[in-house]
Amino acid sequence: MRKLIVEGGPRLRGQVRVGGAKNSAVALLPAAILANSTVTIEGLPDISDVQTLSELLREIGGKVNKDGNTMEIDPSQMISMPLPNGRVKKLRASYYFMGAMLGRFKKAVIGLPGGCHLGPRPIDQHIKGFEALGAEITNEQGALYLRAKELRGARIYLDVVSVGATINIMLAAVKAKGKTTIENAAKEPEIIDVATLLTSMGAKIKGAGTDVIRIEGVEELNGCLHTIIPDRIEAGTYTIMAAAQGDGMIIDNVIPQHLESLLAKLREMGVTIEENEEQLYINPGKKIKSVDIKTLVYPGFPTDLQQPFTTLLTQATGTGVVTDTIYSARFKHIDELRRMNASIKTEGGSAIITGPARLEGAKVKASDLRAGAALVIAGLMADGITEITGIDHIERGYENITNKLIELGAKIWYEEMSQEEVEQFQNS
Ligand code: EPU
Repeated sequence: MRKLIVEGGPRLRGQVRVGGAKNSAVALLPAAILANSTVTIEGLPDISDVQTLSELLREIGGKVNKDGNTMEIDPSQMISMPLPNGRVKKLRASYYFMGAMLGRFKKAVIGLPGGCHLGPRPIDQHIKGFEALGAEITNEQGALYLRAKELRGARIYLDVVSVGATINIMLAAVKAKGKTTIENAAKEPEIIDVATLLTSMGAKIKGAGTDVIRIEGVEELNGCLHTIIPDRIEAGTYTIMAAAQGDGMIIDNVIPQHLESLLAKLREMGVTIEENEEQLYINPGKKIKSVDIKTLVYPGFPTDLQQPFTTLLTQATGTGVVTDTIYSARFKHIDELRRMNASIKTEGGSAIITGPARLEGAKVKASDLRAGAALVIAGLMADGITEITGIDHIERGYENITNKLIELGAKIWYEEMSQEEVEQFQNS
């Protein structure tokens, strides 16, 4: 088992290229199940979640070829193999196998998903949607059994705005008989990306990116070529890094409109940002001032950037309040930041950060993906050495993070953990 070592101090300079969107990729790959011939996806990020999903596609009979960032998936020989255990438990997004397999085979057996622990993460809205389309669903020993004689279009109102439920219902509905309407749908760019792929495959979808999505089911879906959108959360993480420890950084392969809520907050703090069609130039200036943020569904401030942003706030002058309305328990990074001398109090669903604090290197643990990113940023700014364990989480979502940071001038490397450290980590 490895840990990540960061030696704080160097200011980051130069250009970093953002990869394809993780939260699109994890839906686009299962969506390929619905086609009758090869689906090619370009620009996939080089992360472990993509690897795990490609193995799952092979497990059900898919022929998968990966060449760099391009993956070809031939789904023609796939079967509705039950996936109650094993790899499905590794990542939350394996729940997209439910919608895609239901759409293609009218049945699926999928283990309840794993993924980052951010407090309760129910999937009742996914189930409500599948049931409305005509599926019967039972939970047997931690796996969901989904069966439908046929899928029929339906009008589905989501009680909670959910990215996963919106995509999962789309996946099942594109091959249902008749019309489906998803009301109170999520509007994230990843939903538009999945709808774009499905439309290229021959699906009929209107309104993706608004809160009402209309789908007319079709009998067959074909293979196609699709290029994934850039990862707005990876881009946002490097943007925050640039504001925290940069000395003039260019973030390349970005759609700036996807990051408007973050960029507005950074400008409010005094950070200079120039943007063109696919790049951001970030200059932090001398002093930044605190702001409050509240996470909301898109286009509000993304919950996935809340943790990295909290680290930035430790360097701002004044007091900032961070409230997460999507995952009220997404605060496990706070104790670790405190270990590094940050001044943060938690009250209810909010963190109150007083800055600027002089961060000190420490031994810390990444409890989830974005907490890991928050700790890397803290390590880059801290005096001395920071050792981060739990790096599997980081590798699930940030491609080549060490190489990208080394290119920018950071001192960061992996080290093997001693037996004693592994035991301590496993017991903590
Ligand atoms: N919710 C329900 N019932 C449901 C589904 C969701 O109550 O059936 C609640 C959740 O508990 C949460 C809120 O609705 O409070 C939003 O959840 P959503 O379903 O939108 O989240 P998700 O689809 O499971 C995706 C991303 C997350 C990101 C959230 C919110 C993927 C694979 N994951 O999760 O990304 O935080 O949307 O934007 O797309 C990450 O990348 O680090 C990450 C956790």
